[in-house]
Amino acid sequence: MAKELGFGVVGLGMGGHHCKAIIKAKGARLVAVCDHDKERLEQRVKEFNCKGYLSYAEMLKDPEIDVVNIATESGKHAAMGIQAARAGKHIIVEKPVDITPKKITELEKVVKETGVKCGCIFQYRMDNCNKFIRQAISKGHMGKIIGVHAHLPWYRADSYYSGKFGTWRGTWKLDGGGSLMNQGIHTLDLAIFLAGPVKRVAGFYGVFNHKIEAEDQVVAVLEFENGALGTLFTTTCAIPEGAQRIYMYGSKGSFSRHGGTLEFYEMGPDKDRKRMMELFSGKPMSDAASKDPMAVSADGHMLIVEDMVKAIRLNREPAIPIAEARKSVDTACAIYKSARTGKMVEVASVRK
Ligand SMILES: NC(=O)c1ccc[n+]([C@@H]2O[C@H](COP(=O)([O-])OP(=O)(O)OC[C@H]3O[C@@H](n4cnc5c(N)ncnc54)[C@H](O)[C@@H]3O)[C@@H](O)[C@H]2O)c1
Repeated sequence: MAKELGFGVVGLGMGGHHCKAIIKAKGARLVAVCDHDKERLEQRVKEFNCKGYLSYAEMLKDPEIDVVNIATESGKHAAMGIQAARAGKHIIVEKPVDITPKKITELEKVVKETGVKCGCIFQYRMDNCNKFIRQAISKGHMGKIIGVHAHLPWYRADSYYSGKFGTWRGTWKLDGGGSLMNQGIHTLDLAIFLAGPVKRVAGFYGVFNHKIEAEDQVVAVLEFENGALGTLFTTTCAIPEGAQRIYMYGSKGSFSRHGGTLEFYEMGPDKDRKRMMELFSGKPMSDAASKDPMAVSADGHMLIVEDMVKAIRLNREPAIPIAEARKSVDTACAIYKSARTGKMVEVASVRK
């Protein structure tokens, strides 16, 4: 195997972040980019000084490429992942893995059959503060988890849902929803990362302040498999926008994280409490992506690229395999189903 693994990126909006992440990542080399929009392709080829393909099928034939990063519209991810796997390429797929449990199961099946690695983007899982909190919870520092509150009061202007690259957003067919499946999926995934999988949901949604088909606000009650109860609130209507907040408490303690800052951390030994606050409080509360989707940092993506390099070299599972990344999509689909039917929905039922 060559010293560095070769990467190709398809979909050059958010895919631009993938290119920057690959260039910074140890053990990775950006070989090519692909977009069927000629103007975007030419701009990125110039910016990253790499090969450019207008056709995805052609890029998949490139022998220098070991891993394909998929950053196209969400409803295309599984089909394009299956194409890549069948061409013998490993895959990094943007969130959400896809927008329906059925398509994700198909991708999971082909990834297993072909033996390629598939890692998913949920950059908040690579964040040190979140990782430390998860470790502390698994060591029992929170005790029995009781309450989980996840809140994403973001804003998206009308222009986000229109123009050359905007009309797929907020549609059921390609975005799989709106504020929940697109933006809030990160928040829901983080709640699942920290508190465990969700068993049952009751949801509500509506379109309140945009001209879109799906939804721009969701409220849900979550019953976790471990018995904890939680609430999830996602919107792209908040004026002014605010930062994501996740607040959890258990029988022995609690924490609250607001945007990048740890508001309080009241669990585990005193030295851990002090250390966590020293490391993670007083960071900017604001979250640039709350208003501008492209303001996301590429650092989390870089860690996921480096993790993929190691997963291939060591022949192990990537840090965020499909089985993990699909939990939030299954749960979001259950929330939408609950809102449509007016009934509580078991998350497992949406996979059938
Ligand atoms: N991780 C994050 O924080 C984050 C942030 C923003 C977007 N995203 C995700 O990234 C994905 C893309 O979002 P975006 O905002 O960049 O969308 P976008 O519409 O700006 O970009 C999608 C690009 O894919 C190209 N494309 C589509 N099908 C193609 C094909 N078959 N062959 C070649 N090119 C093709 C389009 O021409 C377009 O340039 C979505 O799944 C979104 O959820 C993730």
